[in-house]
Amino acid sequence: MVPYNLQNWYDQDCGIKEPDPANSFEAKCAGCHNTGLELKKTDKGFESKYSELNTGCEKCHGAGSMHVNSPGKGNILNPRKLAFERGLEVCGQCHSRGTSVPKGLHDYPWDETANKPYQLGEPLSKYYTLKPGKWADSAGHSRQHHQQWVDFLRSKHFTGKIHCFDCHNAHGDPVLLSL
Ligand code: HEC
Ligand code: HEC
Ligand code: HEC
Ligand code: HEC
Repeated sequence: MVPYNLQNWYDQDCGIKEPDPANSFEAKCAGCHNTGLELKKTDKGFESKYSELNTGCEKCHGAGSMHVNSPGKGNILNPRKLAFERGLEVCGQCHSRGTSVPKGLHDYPWDETANKPYQLGEPLSKYYTLKPGKWADSAGHSRQHHQQWVDFLRSKHFTGKIHCFDCHNAHGDPVLLSL
């Protein structure tokens, strides 16, 4: 675990402080660190609601209430069945660096006009703008963590249409699928 933007949450005497609304957890982190996020703008910043504080099934498989009522393959989304780039974006929505559209209020994919999160199967670019100058160093390499998708788009694996989940198990340990 690494200390992450601690200056936003603690003051110089190590006391907890109210973050500046523009840098709050809701504004900058929640879209990648929970599932089913809803945002409401208030005078003080953003209020949020979510269904799970983590990466839940619905983050990669879409809304599941119909599926829970009558489980079947027709009413749930399988990332593997999407067009190649759309399937890759299921992982790319979090393993990346960018900002919401159009104003860049959030560091995660979000349609600020309709006030809604990225919808699986739609082009991620409708919800997210990459900032190449920000994420890469002058040689074009990653500077920080959670950028695997951005790097991947430049690799031969991308042109070869290899999925993240051809190598990684999306459902838990181990990090890599056993061969
Ligand atoms: C991080 C993204 C992610 C999360 C979270 C996730 N899945 Fe998946 N799931 C996938 C991917 C990717 C595949 C396709 C894997 C493949 O084809 O190799 C898949 C496949 C499946 C399948 C097989 C579907 C089929 O048509 O054969 C089932 C069932 C499933 N997931 C259920 C779940 C359940 C239940 C949860 C929550 C407990 C969950 N998944 C959470 C990404 C995810
Ligand atoms: C909702 C955001 C989100 C999505 C979608 C997502 N991830 Fe992640 N992923 C995370 C976070 C957060 C962690 C770090 C979890 C931790 O350290 O507890 C992580 C960790 C990982 C790790 C490292 C696991 C480890 O044990 O070190 C791999 C590999 C990974 N994800 C692959 C994928 C793949 C492949 C997909 C697409 C099928 C995917 N992720 C989709 C947020 C996401
Ligand atoms: C664009 C999506 C995204 C946003 C926004 C985001 N994270 Fe993450 N975060 C991730 C992913 C993906 C991982 C897993 C990183 C990896 O293995 O490379 C992660 C990992 C972490 C970890 C574990 C780090 C470690 O080294 O174990 C912490 C803590 C964390 N995030 C906190 C935050 C905080 C606080 C914010 C807001 C200031 C934030 N994140 C914003 C996607 C995001
Ligand atoms: C060709 C196989 C392959 C593909 C495709 C692939 N990865 Fe990886 N990935 C690896 C290997 C190998 C490692 C290093 C694992 C280790 O150190 O144990 C790794 C490491 C990672 C880690 C760091 C895990 C850790 O322990 O810190 C994350 C997160 C990750 N990959 C996410 C992704 C995402 C997201 C995609 C798609 C955009 C992707 N990977 C595509 C093979 C792959």
